[in-house]
Amino acid sequence: MSASDHDNLDINKLPLHVAVIMDGNGRWAQKRLLNRVKGHEKGSESVRVIVKTCRELNIPYLTLYAFSTENWDRPKAEVSALMTLLNRFLKTEEKLMLDNNIRLNAMGQIERLPDTVRKTLFETMEKTRNNNAMQLNLALSYGSRAEIVDMVKKIATDVKAGRLDPGSISSDMIPDYLYTKDIPDPDLLIRTSGEMRISNFLLWQIAYSEIYFTDTLWPDFGREEFIHILEDFQGRERRYGKVPA
Ligand code: IPE
Ligand code: IPE
Ligand code: MG
Repeated sequence: MSASDHDNLDINKLPLHVAVIMDGNGRWAQKRLLNRVKGHEKGSESVRVIVKTCRELNIPYLTLYAFSTENWDRPKAEVSALMTLLNRFLKTEEKLMLDNNIRLNAMGQIERLPDTVRKTLFETMEKTRNNNAMQLNLALSYGSRAEIVDMVKKIATDVKAGRLDPGSISSDMIPDYLYTKDIPDPDLLIRTSGEMRISNFLLWQIAYSEIYFTDTLWPDFGREEFIHILEDFQGRERRYGKVPA
């Protein structure tokens, strides 16, 4: 029997939810004197590899930061190329999701996406709706502060309608008002490209996530490094503010 590349992983101690800030596509392309869009194209191949690896390892939730609310302020040509690429990705990867029992979920200000992308997105979500081995969350036109503002508005509406007593508001109920309702908080957050910041991603949800920063640019990120990061995660002691057991 040949050794697998994840023999050192404890399959009983894998994260339930991995979140990734996929960064560095532009620099990957610039280093090769290519248009930034080529970097995004190459980056979509890394997405496929990481989705497949999560599924294979039975990691049930993967959340990918694909486009932020701030990314709308990039040059028009880059935004439009990213939207075209997203549309194409959804179409080509539909088979992967259907064959592998993966449900697609989108979170963010989806109404700001172009009609064609929204249509493809809703079709893919509908077709994969009953899949239950893994959930792939795409953070699209996503910003955590906008999500928090929406949460406050929904709570205020419930209070005003008399459905909620302000005195009963607790941190346990906040998750029900976020885009990530019913999704456990990420156990592990990875950011590629060497930037050590969060860039408006899942601010509430990462309160106790383990964070891993790597210098690798997203288009160069692959299965081997992902498995290495999972091994590193398994070596960490999560204390949640308590003293070691
Ligand atoms: C990440 O790569 C993809 C998106 C933010 C859409 P970037 O496009 O941010 O790449 P860099 O950071 O400029 O290298
Ligand atoms: C964060 O990357 C957003 C995504 C990966 C989609 P950015 O490249 O937009 O973040 P900053 O500008 O470096 O903070
Ligand atoms: Mg970037």
